[in-house]
Amino acid sequence: MAITPLRVGEKELALGIKRDITARKTAEEALSESEERFRQIFEQNQDAQVILGCGECRVIDANPAAIALFGYSREEFIGMEEADLLGEKVCEKVKTGLKLQGGFSFERVDAVRRDGTKAAVSVRGQVITLRQSTMVLCTVRDLTELIRMEEEARYIQAKLIHANKMTSIGTLASGVAHEINNPNNFILFNSTLLSDAWKDAARILERYYRDNGDFSLGGLPYSEMSEVVPELLSGITDGSRRIKGIVDNLKDFSRKDKAGLEGSFDVNRAVMASVSILSNQIAKYTDSFEVDCAEGLPKVKGSGQKIEQVVINLVLNALHALADKKKRVIVATRQEEGRVFIEVRDEGAGMTRDVLDRVMEPFFTTKADLGGTGLGLSISYSIIKEHGGTLEFDSAPGIGTTARITLPAEAEGLE
Ligand SMILES: Nc1ncnc2c1ncn2[C@@H]1O[C@H](COP(=O)(O)OP(=O)(O)OP(=O)(O)O)[C@@H](O)[C@H]1O
Ligand SMILES: [Mg+2]
Repeated sequence: MAITPLRVGEKELALGIKRDITARKTAEEALSESEERFRQIFEQNQDAQVILGCGECRVIDANPAAIALFGYSREEFIGMEEADLLGEKVCEKVKTGLKLQGGFSFERVDAVRRDGTKAAVSVRGQVITLRQSTMVLCTVRDLTELIRMEEEARYIQAKLIHANKMTSIGTLASGVAHEINNPNNFILFNSTLLSDAWKDAARILERYYRDNGDFSLGGLPYSEMSEVVPELLSGITDGSRRIKGIVDNLKDFSRKDKAGLEGSFDVNRAVMASVSILSNQIAKYTDSFEVDCAEGLPKVKGSGQKIEQVVINLVLNALHALADKKKRVIVATRQEEGRVFIEVRDEGAGMTRDVLDRVMEPFFTTKADLGGTGLGLSISYSIIKEHGGTLEFDSAPGIGTTARITLPAEAEGLE
């Protein structure tokens, strides 16, 4: 209400003007109510939110989640350049905020925290009007955990694909082994028989040669063939024995039975047994072989003999990788959180990423010339897997390799 003095002729009057402001009052109340509501949502939002002045890119306010994410106090936040928090790209968008008509979003940018570290975040900006001014509300979502989960999922998937590949190669290999076994038995049996037959025939042929001079055998003179044929025959027998060795290994590799896994064994004893079996080989390849067995290891469920086989394979690989006898090989055991570890470390040639990715594939070998079959690690892998453990490698070319077996310790009280 407004009152104004008024003179009409001689009379002094007062003019009162009344205005109905109910609508304005209601509107003001509604506005402050909605601002209060906005403030509560802003304060309690799990996502970090900062309010920026449109066009100038300075922080007007920040919610507690933003304080936690960036590490600045509210006072420090106010007036800060937004570019220092979320980079120039986002700042550009905020500067043109008025023209945005609705907002903007960035799937992934780097947020810079107070201590200089960076966090991957997504940013969504919305133009809002608060107390008759236009501002930009930036919602910043921390993606660190999401990215970690995605990476973990990718890692698990790669492992599953690898395990699946090993299983299918294993099935294929055991099928092939079975097919090869029968014809190879013929070769082995017949070549042995032919060797014996040749020894008998050679005596008669030798006599014939002495009486009548040289003659042709298979297109070559007998005088030459008499020396070559035994070599050919023993070559066939040796080759066939080698095939038999591979086939037997493959049968081990794909064997499904769990025989020998019910017992439990002492890991250190298995390691020492492997080392003593290999003593000749160890002496041949290195002057520096160490065994470092931890005391008081819990027992492990399964077959000690099979684990010996794995340790033998790993130590042999380590020895074969050494450039000279000064290089070291260390076999160590330890325990941690219900698991027992056996590590075989060498100062050998190491492996490139490509080799490392394939070491456990059956028949993968870089030692074909030296008689490597490429079955050592694939068999080791399947043995460790049936014991519920893992077999991993760390390797760097020119530095060396660490093979790590992890086995679950036998639960206490079950011994
Ligand atoms: N400690 C190691 N240092 C360097 N390379 C290694 C090591 N262990 C394994 N490798 C690589 O992995 C390949 C596969 O090993 P794996 O034991 O399966 O077969 P192999 O040793 O070649 O033959 P074998 O069947 O006689 O064991 C090797 O040929 C070698 O290239
Ligand atoms: Mg090997």
